[in-house]
Amino acid sequence: MRNAYISGSGAYVPPRVVTNNDLVNEYGLDTSDEWIQKRTGIKERRYAAVGVGPAELAVVASEQAIEAAGIDKSDIDMIIFATLSPEYAFPGSGVLLAEKLGLCDGTGATFVPALDIRNQCSGFVYGLTVAKGLIASGGAEHVLLVGGEKHSSGLDFTTRGRAVASLFGDGAGAVVVSATDEDRGIRAHKLGSDGRYAEMLCQQVWDCRRSHFFNLDENGNGVVPPDEMYTTMDGRKVFRHAVERMTEALMGVCMESGITGTDIDLFLFHQANMRINEYLANMMGIPPEKLVHNIDKYGNTTAATIPLLIAEAERDGRLKPGMKVAMIAFGSGFTWGAAIADW
Ligand code: UT7
Repeated sequence: MRNAYISGSGAYVPPRVVTNNDLVNEYGLDTSDEWIQKRTGIKERRYAAVGVGPAELAVVASEQAIEAAGIDKSDIDMIIFATLSPEYAFPGSGVLLAEKLGLCDGTGATFVPALDIRNQCSGFVYGLTVAKGLIASGGAEHVLLVGGEKHSSGLDFTTRGRAVASLFGDGAGAVVVSATDEDRGIRAHKLGSDGRYAEMLCQQVWDCRRSHFFNLDENGNGVVPPDEMYTTMDGRKVFRHAVERMTEALMGVCMESGITGTDIDLFLFHQANMRINEYLANMMGIPPEKLVHNIDKYGNTTAATIPLLIAEAERDGRLKPGMKVAMIAFGSGFTWGAAIADW
């Protein structure tokens, strides 16, 4: 029986810490440490330097994951890169990562295929499902799955954008998903989407339905108004849908696996808002010791939240082989997903 399991993980966040007070004092954001902590649980986040994109953030995380998996980078059969903040509209960040990992250079070049996943906060769980399918079909032995984001260059620090700007941070997490004949690995998954709400959490800067991707001024130069340049979000509605869909996905994947929530040793929830996760945990009766968080120190890193949790929980010994683990995410699209793994 050919199973797919997470054989290694890695994490990288840029060194620059931006506290809630820094948002007020350095960025002039009309907010307060008290408001952000109370409404979201976020204390600080990381911002990457100008010139750095998600592929670069992903390099260290990927190298750590490859080393932890006990393989060489030349053993990677496929890169899957989940991001909503790519360097370019195209090509995707996956090819940039392959190049930065040295997979296109010299005699060791493997020219590994690279696939980008555009499923925002659910991108990692979607990617895990794709990786599992590739491995199950015999199409790959080792898949490098990355969630990497650079939000800091797309935030609106005026009052108009404060609900979004206070939430997001930069970072990257990576795992290697490997084939095994052992009775372990990713057991079940439940994915979903609801495109009726596509505009409820959206960035519309690029829209090819128009005569040009951008509006043009009389000189033919692109003009991007703020509501297209920055993410727009109906926070309250996103919050409500997140709670409903994450609960549904978690219950669905448990039913599919023939288990209940009490059989799960560790829950890795997407980190969008601590209140969403507390709500979910209360409804499902999940005790605090079965949850790990990083939203307090990194904010919402969208596709990177779950691989960052995995890497840090493995590093500090909270996530160990033999554990039954649930991963659950919800985000723009709307898209959502849950997966169960025997670690
Ligand atoms: O990754 C998945 C996608 N994202 C999410 O899941 C996010 C889901 N939504 C949320 O986390 C919350 O809705 C937010 C944290 C974004 C907002 O919290 P809220 O409790 O839902 O606040 P609200 O949007 O209902 O706004 C309440 C008030 C408003 O002022 P008025 O109109 O009552 O005077 C906002 O203008 O809070 C104001 N506000 C802020 N005040 C200080 C919004 N953002 C801020 C801010 N600082 N950063």
